[in-house]
Parts: sequence; structure tokens; C-alpha cells
Amino acid sequence: MSSQTKLHILFTSKEIEATIRKLAAEIRKDYQGKHPLLIGILKGSFVFMADLIRLLNFPLEVEFVRLSSYGGGKESSGKIKVVQGLSSSVKGRDVLVIEDIVDTGLTTAFLLDYLRKKKPASLKLCALTDKPSRRQVPVTIDYLGFTVSNKFIVGYGLDWNEKFRYLPDICFIEDEGG
Ligand code: IMP
Repeated sequence: MSSQTKLHILFTSKEIEATIRKLAAEIRKDYQGKHPLLIGILKGSFVFMADLIRLLNFPLEVEFVRLSSYGGGKESSGKIKVVQGLSSSVKGRDVLVIEDIVDTGLTTAFLLDYLRKKKPASLKLCALTDKPSRRQVPVTIDYLGFTVSNKFIVGYGLDWNEKFRYLPDICFIEDEGG
């Protein structure tokens, strides 16, 4: 980390909590009694997933997939592959993908396509944050927390080179020198 890197709070932990309560209320309404399979995309979604599922008061299952798309910096390499796959079957299940951020859309579009081929009963996407100005491929977000401008954000599970995941707030990184 450069000595010039500065973090600024974009969403406080209280704002995040309130937003997740709203998302959970919507998801509860739609998935009650369906025993859905929630699939978190590692690593970034693990904090969000942990808070979200504790607000869903119905039986559900949890899975994680790990995809590789980013090198070590702030830009996607554009090439996505499954690094750690699913151990549960998706066929006939009501599947809800949980993502920390949709940026270019390449990662989520790839995963939704991958899962659709496995013939789930339904397939939806819940994303905590969205950066629509960066989109390269269209992605429909069924449950969205926050829309953010074109800033690189960290905290609440989101990282920059594996740093800052532990922060309770979502912060943006001030451009070096600016
Ligand atoms: P996409 O394929 O460009 O949509 O990127 C999705 C993935 O890139 C997310 O799961 C994050 O891991 C990472 N990512 C994109 N933008 C950010 C950001 O602002 N902060 C942290 N990670 C990001």
C-alpha cells in the first residue's frame, strides 16, 4: 500500500445494516418456503452473505464458488474461470447468487451462464453494490443494495490486493496524488 493511499467512508456499517435489512425483507417475501440455494462468490461476498442469511428466517442452503478474474490490481483480466466449484447440485433448485460488487459484469455474467446450464428451477442475483458506469456486459441485478460511482471500494469483505476486507464500513480509495 502506498503511503499516499487514503480511505474515505462511503457507506457506514449502520447504513450497510439498514440496506441489508431491506434486501432481506424482499428476499424473505420471494423465497419463503422455497428452500433456496444461496451461492456466494468468494472471496468478497462472505461478510455480506454471513449478515444476510441471518436475517432470512426460513430454511436455505449455502454454497460458495471461487472464480478467478482479477490479477492483483484494480482491473479485471477479463478471463474468468472456476477455481473452486460447487459441491451441491443446482438442478431444479431455486438459486440466488450473492455477489459483493458488479463492476464490468464479466464475473457475474459468466457465473449466471455457468449455472443456467445446470438447469436450476430459478436463478436470481443479489448484489450488495453495483458500478453501472463500468459495465461491459449486461447483467440483471434482482436485489441491489447500493449503486456506486466509478470508485474503487474496499471494506465489508471487499479488498484491494487482499487488504481492507476487515473494515466494517465500505470505503473508497482516494486516487494517489489526488
Ligand atoms: P466484474 O467481473 O468486473 O464485474 O468484477 C467483479 C469482481 O471484481 C468482484 O467480485 C470483486 O471481487 C472485484 N471488484 C470489482 N470492483 C471492485 C471494487 O471497487 N473493489 C473491490 N473489488 C472489486
